[in-house]
Amino acid sequence: MTDSDEFIVRSERPAIVTGAARGIGAGIADALLAAGHPVVVVDINTDALAEFRAARPKLAERLAIVAADVSDEAAWETILQETQRRFGPVAVLVNNAGISPKHNGLRRETDGMPLEEWNRVIAVNLTSAFLGVRAVLPAMRAQGWGRIVNVSSQAGRQGARIAGVHYGVTKSALLGLAMTVAYEYGADGITANSVTPGRVETDMAAQAPDEVNARLAAAIPVGRVGQPADIGATISFLAGDSASFITGATIDVNGGSFMG
Ligand SMILES: NC(=O)c1ccc[n+]([C@@H]2O[C@H](COP(=O)([O-])OP(=O)(O)OC[C@H]3O[C@@H](n4cnc5c(N)ncnc54)[C@H](O)[C@@H]3O)[C@@H](O)[C@H]2O)c1
Repeated sequence: MTDSDEFIVRSERPAIVTGAARGIGAGIADALLAAGHPVVVVDINTDALAEFRAARPKLAERLAIVAADVSDEAAWETILQETQRRFGPVAVLVNNAGISPKHNGLRRETDGMPLEEWNRVIAVNLTSAFLGVRAVLPAMRAQGWGRIVNVSSQAGRQGARIAGVHYGVTKSALLGLAMTVAYEYGADGITANSVTPGRVETDMAAQAPDEVNARLAAAIPVGRVGQPADIGATISFLAGDSASFITGATIDVNGGSFMG
C-alpha cells in the first residue's frame, strides 16, 4: 500500500495502541477497530506489523501502521503526526508495549541482574508510557476528552514471580502513572486507568517453560488462560463514553487468579 492508496478518515476517537502487531496489543487493536475506532498500530517489529496489516485488508481505511521503538522520545512525534494526518487528534492511548527478558525460559534473579537489562526494561515498559501520555495530553486536553489505559500485569499487583524484578517494578509503576494522570487531568475529561492481565496466551507467555504455563493454567479459577480478546474487550469498554466515571482504577482481568 502506498500513501496515495490511503483513505483519509476523520473520527472523534482515533486510538493509538503500542506493541500492537502481536499478542495482547493485537487483541486490543482488533477490539477497538470493532468498536469503530480508527487505530494506529505501533510496534518495533516491522515483519509483525506487515503481517498484522496483511491479515486485515478490509480495515485499511481505519488502520495506520507505525514502526517505532516507543522508548525513543523522538518516535512519539512521528506517532502523533501520523495519527493526526490519517485520522485527526488522538483520543485514546493504550500503553501496551512491554518486554520480559528470559534466559533459557527463565528470569534473571535480582542479585544477578545487569544494569543494562534493568534499564532496557524500565525504558520499554515504563518510560515509553510516560512519553506516550505526555505526547497525547495536549490533543486530549484541547478536545476535553481522552482515554488512557496502561497495560500493567498481575505482577504489578503482587510482585513478579515468573518475570524479573525490573518487570514487576515497571508494572507496579504503571498503576501509579495512571493514578497521577487521573488526578491531574480528570477535570479535562481525561480518564487514566490500568488493566492488569493474568496469564494470557501470547509469544511472551510462551517463553516460560511448558510446566510453568501448565501449573499457572491449573490454578486459574475459570479453568483457562486468558486470550488477547479478553483484554481487548475490557480496554474497548474503558475507551468508551460509558466508562467516564472510571478513572485511576486498576482492573484485574485474570480469570480469578488474583483477587485483591
Ligand atoms: N502474556 C501475558 O501473560 C501477559 C500478562 C500480563 C501482562 N502482559 C503485558 O501485556 C503486554 C503485551 O504482552 P504480550 O504477551 O502480548 O507480549 P508479546 O511479546 O507477545 O507482544 C509484545 C509486542 O510489543 C512489541 N514491542 C516490544 N518492545 C517494543 C518497543 N520498544 N517499541 C514498540 N513495540 C515494542 C513487540 O514487538 C510485540 O509485538 C505487555 O506489556 C506485557 O507485559 C502480558
